[in-house]
Amino acid sequence: MSPLRVTRTLPEDATDAALRADVLNGLTATPKTLPPKWFYDARGSELFEEITELPEYYPTRAEREILLARSGEIAVASGARTLVELGSGSSEKTRLLIDALTSLQVYVPVDVSESALTQAGQALIEERPALSVHALIADFTGRMSLPETPGPRLLAFLGGTIGNLLPAERARFLASVRSLLAPGDALLLGTDLVKDEDVLVRAYDDAAGVTAEFNKNVLAVVDRELGADFDLDAFAHVALWDDEHEWIEMRLRSLTDQTVKIPALDLAVEFADGEELCTEISAKFREEGVRGELAEAGFELTQWWTDEAGRFALSLSTAG
Ligand code: SAH
Ligand code: TRP
Repeated sequence: MSPLRVTRTLPEDATDAALRADVLNGLTATPKTLPPKWFYDARGSELFEEITELPEYYPTRAEREILLARSGEIAVASGARTLVELGSGSSEKTRLLIDALTSLQVYVPVDVSESALTQAGQALIEERPALSVHALIADFTGRMSLPETPGPRLLAFLGGTIGNLLPAERARFLASVRSLLAPGDALLLGTDLVKDEDVLVRAYDDAAGVTAEFNKNVLAVVDRELGADFDLDAFAHVALWDDEHEWIEMRLRSLTDQTVKIPALDLAVEFADGEELCTEISAKFREEGVRGELAEAGFELTQWWTDEAGRFALSLSTAG
């Protein structure tokens, strides 16, 4: 069995500096914001796994259904020897792909969550001893450099995570993904689809309150890392549908007038009663939009598959 290789392209102190900069910029802006990658410390990754099992959160089940039906076709079309996965998390659904890819030699999971990466990577090398796993701790919104591995490559970006980027960030991201690939390599992209507002809102505001806890975890991260005194009970989780942009917006609403101290930044932040802090968007897509954004970045969409109920899509594209 080859050992798990883990490469950190994010030095610990750079992560700390980036968190400080993001919190300072975000909490002094109007409206206040915090970027979503800071949700995913060990607790955040655990909470996200709980979200994927909630009755209201359909995207994971819908995408798994598509992967179950289509992994064979994806394997034949890509012939991949290397599978790169961005925002791989637990790599749970990815096992379907790994098992179908008969020429696969190397799996490169990329994530900011070190705990999720090492847990998933360790489990995979035990289960699939012939596979080399080279995990990369990296921020997929920044410049990524991949290890030298055999082509052709298949790059997977699942879970609808692309919807967590704003349109301009998405364009930059897709262009950077294209630059990591050679002509003929493939991109497998999971996108959640526009649908009934109630179904969408419930998926991001579940009855058991797991999503609320996940959303508030970003405050717990700032408390722990920067010594802040956010009181998680003084904020309420809000999920709403923005019909114009066709995205779900996640916010944290201050339940009172309060001042939060962040000693590591020498900062005191005032929240008015009812003031909302924007934490994340989750954009929902239509086929023509996805096709167009991919074409803009130099990809040709060749396959578009949805689950039986038409809630979620997986598309396969070729780098031009
Ligand atoms: N692919 C998995 C997990 C999706 S959740 C699934 O489909 O279930 C989003 C994942 O992306 C998390 O594991 C999170 O840690 C990771 N992530 C979020 N922002 C990131 C960033 N900027 N760079 C790298 N990974 C990121
Ligand atoms: N990529 C996931 C999605 O957009 C992330 C997610 C699910 C999420 N639930 C959330 C992010 C709640 C913030 C808050 O579906």
